[in-house]
Amino acid sequence: MQTVRAPATSANLGSGFDVFGVALDRPADVVRVEKADRTTIKMRGVGSQYIPEDPDKNVVGAVADALDAPAHIEIDKGVRPSSGLGSSAASSAAAAVALNALYDRGYSRQELVAVAAEGEAVVSGEAHADNVAPALLGGFTVARGDAVTTVDASIPLVACLPEIAVSTRDARRVVPESASMEDVVHTIGSAATLSVGMCRNDPALVGSGMDERVVTPARAELITGYDAVREAALDAGATGVTVSGAGPAVIAVCRESARRDVASAMVDAFSTAGVESRAYQTRVSEGATLY
Ligand code: HSE
Repeated sequence: MQTVRAPATSANLGSGFDVFGVALDRPADVVRVEKADRTTIKMRGVGSQYIPEDPDKNVVGAVADALDAPAHIEIDKGVRPSSGLGSSAASSAAAAVALNALYDRGYSRQELVAVAAEGEAVVSGEAHADNVAPALLGGFTVARGDAVTTVDASIPLVACLPEIAVSTRDARRVVPESASMEDVVHTIGSAATLSVGMCRNDPALVGSGMDERVVTPARAELITGYDAVREAALDAGATGVTVSGAGPAVIAVCRESARRDVASAMVDAFSTAGVESRAYQTRVSEGATLY
């Protein structure tokens, strides 16, 4: 028997669409695995009623197949599905670490990124590594093709999750097919600024480097109250605000001293827009933990 906790993650961070990701210290999924002749899955926790237990339709079934590691798998969801907080990646990453240990496969965390990304393909149709990489490796991650680089940053964040669902498939449909050279140059500048900010643990640089004009505005339209929530967070001291992953969660960067105010400002602004929400006061943190 092996037990693994894998954290929620926030992908993109505005300027790093399909490339950047960070591990959050909360919420998290916990996965328990036990050897078996064939894979079975039992779900419980937040939103688990919406996730199929059929191994052919569940992310962890794909991970068990990829590792040739059949098991009884119990998933306790702390990360709500369709949240923009890497719910499926948390389960995939936890299952990959747990099954790798259970069957003594000997893969490194870096090698498990590709394995866990197979699980992501089950839900989104494409194998993204920008959530599974931070869920496995922790910190700030840059996923470029098969290569993943990491920075052990520690930046205060608020992840505000409204009571609406946005599926990754729907959020990918609204992504523009092309961008102007001016916008590409702007995005490169932002992404470079954000990366330097992570290396220096500087919330001002990270926040400023989230600015992006192509994908984020298209996705913001899927989130009721987004503009008001963003303004409220900035007024309360956030240094940058953007859509978390494919949404609907909204992620804000701030200094530690402003985190509580930013969290309540975001919840209040969603409420004024008629949407209930929950704010996680969190930070860039560690990846999956094997107990
Ligand atoms: N980078 C992905 C997206 C994250 O924004 O669509 C969700 O898998």
